Amino acid sequence: MPIPERVRVHAPATLSNLGPGFDVLGLALNEPGDYVEAEWSDSPGVEIMEVRGDDGQLNCDPTRNVVGIAATAMLAAHDADETTSRPPGVRLWLEKQMPLASGLGSSAASSVGGALAVNELLGGALDRDQLIVSALEGEQAVSGGIHADNVVPCVTGGIVLIRSYSPMELLSLPVPDALRVAVVHPHTSVVTAEARRIVAERRFRITEAVANLGQLGALVTALHRGDLELFGRAISDALVEPLRAPLVPGFVETKQAALDAGALGCSLSGSGPSVFAFAATDDHAADLAGRMADRFSEVAGLDSDTYSGKVNARGARKVEEDE
Ligand code: HSE
Repeated sequence: MPIPERVRVHAPATLSNLGPGFDVLGLALNEPGDYVEAEWSDSPGVEIMEVRGDDGQLNCDPTRNVVGIAATAMLAAHDADETTSRPPGVRLWLEKQMPLASGLGSSAASSVGGALAVNELLGGALDRDQLIVSALEGEQAVSGGIHADNVVPCVTGGIVLIRSYSPMELLSLPVPDALRVAVVHPHTSVVTAEARRIVAERRFRITEAVANLGQLGALVTALHRGDLELFGRAISDALVEPLRAPLVPGFVETKQAALDAGALGCSLSGSGPSVFAFAATDDHAADLAGRMADRFSEVAGLDSDTYSGKVNARGARKVEEDE
């Protein structure tokens, strides 16, 4: 395959946990997402030339920015095969089009973008599993532990269950045609590493685990049956959501507003502060997103961004030159 000089890729935002599936369930969104451009360079290693859209919060040191960490891991994986060769280095440009510390998989999107951009420069030499492993190196560096429920759906699209971390085994779940998602990102932030520490320190009761086990099984069953009503009822979390709800001002009231307005189900995305709800039509999803934003404003005085629409079926992708 010809090796391109320069590529541009898009890596989408993701929802994780989806209620009962802490660290094992994730879903890709159509918007927002990050763009990464990459080109070969004669200087060895990875350089981050520019980061835009981050309000100056991110580092251009490739060892401290997930886009650089993931890109470096991808190059190392390629170099492990001594029969292949490549130019000495890679330059990267990261365009953030999604908020940091939002619960929408911002670090996963940048990690996947860095890994995919390198793989596209390499003419697609490495496979999807390596892409995931390299992106996870980036994700792990900032999130305070391994969790793949943003990285995996960002790569694959759709709704994904991580059956096992060691060895990594993924199961793509069916996405009912009518399923629509509503997302609200209130303008506050939750640091994932801190939100994970709260969970790690807690001892859980077996009754709480049993509740989530039942709901996780029901959620998978509902997707296979195309049963949106059951799917919605399965969006509940006895383990993690109660611990994290206090980190997001207005969450409890916002969730109630979505459910009162007929949402199929509603929960925190990842560690928050973003909140998602499910619906069965475009109009209902857009309405839910607006109502959730209104409630965050009324209760907590927070402005929000909203997104609604279908699940992203494609995942991270190369952006063609004519797009
Ligand atoms: N599953 C992870 C968590 C996602 O809830 O901590 C973090 O975005």
